[in-house]
Amino acid sequence: MKHLFILISVSFVLSACMPTETQLQRLSPDGQNLVSLELADGLLYYQIDRVTRDGIKPVVLPSRLGFELGEENPNLYSNFEITGVSKSSFNETWTQVWGEKKNIENHYNEIRVSLRQTTDQPRLMQVVFRVYNDGVGFRYEFPEQEHLGDFTIMDEVTEFNLTGDHTAWWIGAYQWNRFEYYFEETPLTQIDTVHTPLTMRTADDLYLSFHEAALVDFTTMTLERTDGYSLKSNLMPWHSGVRVYATTPLVTPWRTLQIADKPGDLITSYLILNLNEPNKIEDTSWIEPSKYVGIWWEMHLDKSTWGSGDRHGATTENAKRYIDFAAEHGFEHVLVEGWNPGWDGSWYADGVVFDFTRPMPDFDLEGVAQYALDRGVRLMGHHENSASVVHYESQMEEAFALYERLGVRAVKTGYVGHGTEIQWFNEAGEEQREWHHGQFMVRHHQRVVELAAKHRINLNVHEGVKDTGLRRTWPNLMTREVAKGQEYNAWGAAGGNPPSHTVLLPFTRNLAGPFDYTPGVLDLFFDEYRPDNRIKSTLAKELALYVVIYSPLHMAADLPENYERFMDAFQFIKDVPVDWYDTRVLDASVGEYVTIVRKDRNSDDWYLGSITGDDARQVDIPLNFLDRNRTYRAHIYRDGDQADWVDAPYDFVIEHIEVTSRDELNFRLGRSGGVAIRFEAL
Ligand code: NOJ
Repeated sequence: MKHLFILISVSFVLSACMPTETQLQRLSPDGQNLVSLELADGLLYYQIDRVTRDGIKPVVLPSRLGFELGEENPNLYSNFEITGVSKSSFNETWTQVWGEKKNIENHYNEIRVSLRQTTDQPRLMQVVFRVYNDGVGFRYEFPEQEHLGDFTIMDEVTEFNLTGDHTAWWIGAYQWNRFEYYFEETPLTQIDTVHTPLTMRTADDLYLSFHEAALVDFTTMTLERTDGYSLKSNLMPWHSGVRVYATTPLVTPWRTLQIADKPGDLITSYLILNLNEPNKIEDTSWIEPSKYVGIWWEMHLDKSTWGSGDRHGATTENAKRYIDFAAEHGFEHVLVEGWNPGWDGSWYADGVVFDFTRPMPDFDLEGVAQYALDRGVRLMGHHENSASVVHYESQMEEAFALYERLGVRAVKTGYVGHGTEIQWFNEAGEEQREWHHGQFMVRHHQRVVELAAKHRINLNVHEGVKDTGLRRTWPNLMTREVAKGQEYNAWGAAGGNPPSHTVLLPFTRNLAGPFDYTPGVLDLFFDEYRPDNRIKSTLAKELALYVVIYSPLHMAADLPENYERFMDAFQFIKDVPVDWYDTRVLDASVGEYVTIVRKDRNSDDWYLGSITGDDARQVDIPLNFLDRNRTYRAHIYRDGDQADWVDAPYDFVIEHIEVTSRDELNFRLGRSGGVAIRFEAL
C-alpha cells in the first residue's frame, strides 16, 4: 500500500515541472499541498504531501479513514468501492463581522469521493477534502440512505500517520481540569491522548497544527498516539460509551491540518474559519467588539467575595464605582460577578443553587443597569452554572430575556466543574455524567448561542468546548476562555503562569480562536492578598498581550484603584482596538517569542505587541509594514534597560517618536518582557 503512494507521487514530480493530478489527487491552488486518496482491498487511505523545490515531502503518510458504528454491522471502514469522484474549486473573499482580519480569502480545490460498501446492505459515505495553500480540511458526509438512518458512532478510524518524531506542543485530554493545563513540549513519541489544537515542528522546520472545524452536533475529537509516529482520532464518549448519536443526512466536523513554513503563518491561517458556514445572523448591528472592566479580579485576589456578607464584591455601590470608571475611560461593559444568589456555600460542587433571574439583596440589578446605560456603559451579565447544565437550561430563556430587557449586550457564561461531571438523567431515570466536551455539551452550547442571538447577546464562554471557528456562523459567539488565563496568576499553585505560557498560547490555544485571557493587570504583586503569587512578567509585557492574544472582547482586568496608579501605561489599554483590518506576524519562535502587528479596522493606526518568554532578547523591527508615504507618531511602551520579570518588572519606559515605514526600531526585552506600540497615523 505505502509503495503505491510513493510511486504515484514520484512519477508526477519527475514528469513535469508543475505537477498534475491523478484522478484521486488534489493539489492546493498554489500547487504546494497535495492530497492523494487510495482504495486498497476495500480500505480507504489518504496521504498529504508537500511539494517543494527539492521534491516531494510527505507530511501525512497513508492513513486510514472511516468509522466503527454501534450497529449490527459495525464496520464502516472497509468493503468500500468508489462510485464517483468529483472535483471543484472555490475562490471568494468574505468579510468578517469582526476579527483579526477584515477580508478573508477562501480559496481551495476540493475532491469528493463517493463510496459504497459491497455488503448485503450497502451503506453510503462520501469523503470531502478541501486543499488550501495553508493546509487541508476533510470531513465525512452520510447522505440519506436506505441502510443508515438513526445510528451511533463507537469509534472514528481516521489516522494521521506522521513522518518522524516531531516536536509537539500539547495538553493532555481526559483530565479533570478540562483544558486548563500548561502546554507541554515533547517529542511526538511522548504524547498519549491530547486535545487539539496540537502543534508540531518537523525536523525540516515545517509547522503543523491539527484541529477541527465546525463542531456542530458531534463530539470533540482528541488525538491518540497509537504507535510510533501515528495518531488516531479519539472521540470523547457519552456516559453510555457511545461517541456520537447520529441521523442521516449527516456531515461531520472537518478534520484540519494547517501546514506552514513559519510558525507565524499558523497564526495568520484562516483555514478553520473558512471551513465554517457563513454568518447566519442578518442584523449584526448589536455585535460590537469592545473592552470591559469588572468586579472580577478583586474576588480572585480574595479582596472581596462572590458570596454575600461584609466583603461581597457585587454591591450596588461597588458596581457604580466600576461604571463611573468605565464611563470615564471609555470601556463599553462592566462585568459583575456574584450578582445573583447561589454563591454562598458549595456552588463549586453543585450549581443547582444558582438563580439566574434574581439579584442578591444588596445589588439593585435594575437600578445598576440603568445607571450604566445613563452613562453610555452596559452591564456585562454573568451566568456561572458550575456545570449544572440541566438546571441552567431550565432558567436560560428567562435569564437571557431579563438581560436583554436591561440593555445587556454581552454575557459571560461559566461551567466550573470536574471534566466528567455534567449530570443529567436519561429516560429510564438513570444518572448520567458527561464530559465537558462530549456531544451532550456541544449540543448545549449550540442551544445557548442560538438563544443568546435571539436576545441580541454576545457570549464570552468560560470552561466551554474548544473553539472550532463557529464564530463565523454565529458572530455573537465572541470569545472563550478554555485555557489557563490570568486568574491562575492570582491563585494558581505554580505561583502564577510561567513566562513561557504566553509565548506558547499564540501557537496552540489561540489557533482555535479568540481567548478571554483577561490581560491588563498592572499591579504585578499582590502581597496584601496573595503573597505567594504574582504576575511573572514585566509591565510592558502585560500591555503587549492586548495585541498578541486576540479577543474581540478584551478585559482591563485590574482594579480601578490600581489603574489610577499606572495612568501612563493604562493609556495603551484605553487606546488599543479589538477589531482589526489586518494581522501580521513579523517574527516568532514557538514558546520563545512572538512579534505581531495589527492594523485597526476603524482608523489607519497600527499596533504592535512583542513578547518574550524565559530569555531576554534583542528585537529588531523594520517598520515596512506601515503604510508608505505616511508619518506615524509611535507611542512606545517598552521594557527599560534593566527590565526583568524577577528583579525589575516595573522598569518601564514610555516614548513618543515620529516614524515612517523606512525606519527600524530596536528593543531589548528583559526576561518575560515585552514592548507595546501604538503607531498613530498623522
Ligand atoms: C472561572 C472563570 O474562569 C472565572 O473567570 C470566573 O470568575 C469564575 N469561574 C467564577 O465564575
